[in-house]
Amino acid sequence: MSSLNGKAPFQDRRTFAIISHPDAGKTTLTEKLLLSGGAIRAAGQVRARGERRRARSDWMKIEQERGISVSSSVMTFERKGIVYNLLDTPGHEDFSEDTYRTLTAVDAAIMVIDAAKGIETQTRKLFEVCRLRDIPIITFVNKIDREGRHALEILDEVQEALALDVSPQTWPVGMGSDFFGVYDWQKKKFHTSEGERGGAFAQTKEVSGLDDGALTDVVFDRIMEELTENVELGAEGYAEFDQESFLEGHLTPVFFGSALRDYGIEEILDFIADFAPAPHSQPATGGRTIMPAEDKVTGFVFKVQANMDPKHRDRIAFVRLCSGTFKRGMKLKHVRANKQIAVSAPIFFFAEEREIADLAYPGDVIGVPNHGQLRVGDTLTEGENIHVTGLPAFAPEILRRVRLSDTMRVKQMRQGLQDLAEEGLVQIFKPDLGSNWIVGVVGALQLDVVVDRLKAEYGTEIGFETVPYSTARWIETDGQTLQKIIEGHRMSVANDRDDKPVFLFKNAWEIGHVTEKFPDVTFRETREIV
Ligand code: G4P
Repeated sequence: MSSLNGKAPFQDRRTFAIISHPDAGKTTLTEKLLLSGGAIRAAGQVRARGERRRARSDWMKIEQERGISVSSSVMTFERKGIVYNLLDTPGHEDFSEDTYRTLTAVDAAIMVIDAAKGIETQTRKLFEVCRLRDIPIITFVNKIDREGRHALEILDEVQEALALDVSPQTWPVGMGSDFFGVYDWQKKKFHTSEGERGGAFAQTKEVSGLDDGALTDVVFDRIMEELTENVELGAEGYAEFDQESFLEGHLTPVFFGSALRDYGIEEILDFIADFAPAPHSQPATGGRTIMPAEDKVTGFVFKVQANMDPKHRDRIAFVRLCSGTFKRGMKLKHVRANKQIAVSAPIFFFAEEREIADLAYPGDVIGVPNHGQLRVGDTLTEGENIHVTGLPAFAPEILRRVRLSDTMRVKQMRQGLQDLAEEGLVQIFKPDLGSNWIVGVVGALQLDVVVDRLKAEYGTEIGFETVPYSTARWIETDGQTLQKIIEGHRMSVANDRDDKPVFLFKNAWEIGHVTEKFPDVTFRETREIV
């Protein structure tokens, strides 16, 4: 992975994710992007890779049974001198916390929308996360080879539902049974099939405009009329592309395409190369902002995957580099533990294989194998003691007490829960009174994953009991006041995995009541995980 034109190598990095509602076509698009980047050789491999991986461990059966992707990964490929790091975000709504953290590690996102369905719930949620972080969004309206909504209707929906300026870059030339291809009105190109109408993308025709015979001789008159109208209305009614507005997250370029039939793939990749941001700066403690061009290496862990190989209790920490040039074997300070670690076997992830990472730059993601030292939110640095910020833990919405079938296995259960908490899959709360831990999750499906993984990886069967609590809040106060809270509400106070105090609330009324009783105390819904 080399640099071009004497630019710093990080300037050629594009680190991005794809966000979508399940079934909109994220997997298909991922696969086609990887194919186009030469990272895989045949269609079907993203799924096949998933299936091979699933077969390796029992808990991943959940993925298979429910047809969702539980674990996220990173795929790197290079195309025309640009290194693309595609971070896979779990699509299911139950995993928003993990997804949120993955989105802290990207610089841009592709939002995939099904042309027949428009903006769906999960798309909207993920979009809101991107907005919170000002992540620029590229919109891909997928499945235009099928009957879908009118292009203008979709553009209006994106504009209104997401309060975002839209800037159409391409237009569908017909849809469904009248699908002829895609028209790039800026570059004056007609992407179409060869031979029969509606086939896969096969050729690009340069055209002089909408009256070019390459279009008018092939495309039905009524489709040409609609296309002409779209292009005219589009030029008048929607925003012209403005890079600054896009980078600030106010405007989204919109591409129409069909991942299945290869329309829009090259356009999206070219667009990312030309306009999506190179690695951005990263906020840190002490009012610091880490700039990618800084000499010293800094990176943060946004994901930990335990037991990727169940035979070894290994873990991979996914580290997004923010600054400096990482070299294999480098000693980096693990700031939370105040220890130096030698990163001797860092890994790059490609679609089909992994490779030892000898050199990595800001924007890149390296996998650091470890035995549990590294947690989500941790900072590794060559420089001064700072923590990269902006990776919160969320107040869980579902709380359950853990029930253990075989009491001889308390130790294994605690180890397992601690490990899964460090991965960020679950939160654990140790009550001030009583010995049974309480787990908290943001979505119900996570509970099933915990049960399955404890059984498969720690040989321990657990169940869950309901508790009278509905949410937790982190308590922020001085020691004396904390003591007062504990004395008055012993049953409701617990410690999280880092021994930070939390209040387990029964309902909204209690939150109000307790907050009023302790006006100087802050009860936080999120906590920075440093
Ligand atoms: P996801 O990861 O967002 O959940 O979606 P995925 O890519 O798995 O696509 C969901 C379904 O939509 C798949 O069909 C896929 O083939 C189809 N699809 C994706 N892109 C397009 C497109 O551009 N045009 C059309 N017509 N279909 C598309 P499936 O029948 O559920 O799965 P499969 O059996 O085909 O794999």
